[in-house]
Amino acid sequence: MVGFPIEAVRGKFPALSLTDKGRRRIYLDNPAGTQVPQAVADAVSRCLLTTNANLGGYFETTIAAQAVVDDAHQAMADFLGAASPGEIIIGANMTTLTYHMSRTLGRGFKPGDEIILTRMDHEGNVSPWLQLAEDLGLVVRWLPFDEKSWQVEEAKLADLLSDKTRLVALNYASNLTGSINRVKSLTAIAKQAGALVYVDAVQFAPHGLIDVSDLGCDFLICSAYKFFGPHMGILWGRRDVVEGLKPYKCRCSSNGLPERFELGTPQIELMAGLTAAVDYFAELGAAAGEGGSRRQKVARAFEVSIAFENPLAQRLIDGLSDISGLTIRGITDPKRLGDRVPTVSFTVEGIVPETVVRQMNAENIFLWSGHNYAWEIVHQLGIPAEQGVVRIGIAHYNTAGEIDETLESVHRVIAMLRQQRS
Ligand SMILES: Cc1ncc(COP(=O)(O)O)c(C=O)c1O
Repeated sequence: MVGFPIEAVRGKFPALSLTDKGRRRIYLDNPAGTQVPQAVADAVSRCLLTTNANLGGYFETTIAAQAVVDDAHQAMADFLGAASPGEIIIGANMTTLTYHMSRTLGRGFKPGDEIILTRMDHEGNVSPWLQLAEDLGLVVRWLPFDEKSWQVEEAKLADLLSDKTRLVALNYASNLTGSINRVKSLTAIAKQAGALVYVDAVQFAPHGLIDVSDLGCDFLICSAYKFFGPHMGILWGRRDVVEGLKPYKCRCSSNGLPERFELGTPQIELMAGLTAAVDYFAELGAAAGEGGSRRQKVARAFEVSIAFENPLAQRLIDGLSDISGLTIRGITDPKRLGDRVPTVSFTVEGIVPETVVRQMNAENIFLWSGHNYAWEIVHQLGIPAEQGVVRIGIAHYNTAGEIDETLESVHRVIAMLRQQRS
């Protein structure tokens, strides 16, 4: 396998060379959103300048705009391993799409039906279902995560399933702990009980190849702005499931797939950017090996990307582990690096996360504090929700030098805050 072309990759992202008051930016806020390659911004701009029309007409630009929309669905089908572009539903973001799909699915649920939610999920995959349960009188069963493995466990899921379970909503990777769930085996167990499985892959999508046909789930959702694309969400739904659904929609709008689920005028220019984001991965894969389909190139891109990201994550974990009183809230065992994405969250005894983050932000190291909508996780761990954690999230354009600078800053800032307290 060829190495990861970090300099060439960084050269594609104009934002990485921006400076503020002479200080370069270190972007470690990636779980909240990544920067975009020039090609993505160019595609959005080109579409607005040359292909700006609504859909369904007979003139040049409306026909071209339809092609942009079709291309984006095909690109995402390739990215996710979907059988056809008709299974790809594109919308504003993960949360909006999930609220919409939950209401659509709710049309088939009745009082007393059960749904299973996890204590590991982002609110985007919790609140829509909780409120649906309130509206319809559904019973909510909670699946905790294991505080040793940092994953949800098959046996615990099996205990919660019954012949009344209609849906299991779970995440692929956590936006706080970074741990990756065994989605395929969890799905198999839920499917045996006849439940639908809705997977939040927002945090996994930037870090690994998704194969919806292999996972066996019914729905899988992600957000393009987490994998170098524009601000939008993408929901894959298994054809035999979505074909049978009646979404809330205008009476006169198309009943086709996926149009039935895509309300109003689509974000056509962002769809152009979405295709460019998938093509960015394909280009990376093309540089890493000979030929193949777009999907095969995307797969190769993830192989080189993972091989580059994982040592960075380990470097970060090792450096943080040296700090006394600091607790990493997630997998730290180097042997289990494959069970996590490179998002590392921590708390420090006696120190409010926001104070660390504000100081590091002032040094132009971009990262987040708080619960980051992993509301259930902070509650299960007994972390005060108003404080949360410090979260450092690596993307494949980060470098070992940036990690080292960040570690120096964490050390310095914590020492300074401790000194102020004493
Ligand atoms: C795991 C996870 N799920 C869902 C969301 C919500 O995504 P969106 O902003 O596209 O609604 C996020 C956003 O950070 C996330 O990290």
